[in-house]
Amino acid sequence: MGRTALCPGTFDPVTNGHVDIIQRASRCFDAVVVGVLANPSKDPLFGLEDRVAMLKEAVSDIAGVEVASFSGLLVEYAKARGIGVVVKGLRGEGDFDFELKMAQMNQHLTGVETFFLPTNPQWSFISSSLIKEVVRFGGDVSGLVPPFVQDRLEERLAFGRE
Ligand code: PNS
Repeated sequence: MGRTALCPGTFDPVTNGHVDIIQRASRCFDAVVVGVLANPSKDPLFGLEDRVAMLKEAVSDIAGVEVASFSGLLVEYAKARGIGVVVKGLRGEGDFDFELKMAQMNQHLTGVETFFLPTNPQWSFISSSLIKEVVRFGGDVSGLVPPFVQDRLEERLAFGRE
């Protein structure tokens, strides 16, 4: 059996930054499971089914990637799947503090290791939250998210409709 990595997140919605990390992780591991958190505290714009469907479409041309959902602790999901490595993207110092603590907590809980990939500078200013805010106020996010994600965002959030 080869090495599998778990790329977890809320993905509300998936951005080009996420796709880049998943693609690069897929080059470093034999397989990648993208784990979409089912019950985040963040009150997502898109329901779980929508977030999973958009991710599946976004990574459909990357070999060796499976999209799945999980609830509860990440480490329990990783253990149930027999996965020992989590891969996360780091955009900068702002991410580092919390990501480090989560990685250390996860390592403490079950021994799962976290590998950080530096975000491609092309995408380092993107977050799902910022993307939603820009679309909500009528801004153009083309080139920052897959085109079908942009369509879904505009359907939901287009300026003046909410
Ligand atoms: O895309 P996000 O919201 O930055 O992803 C955060 C995520 C889903 C990776 C993190 O919140 C998580 O792992 N949640 C599952 C619950 C859990 O294990 N919490 C303890 C973390 S130490």
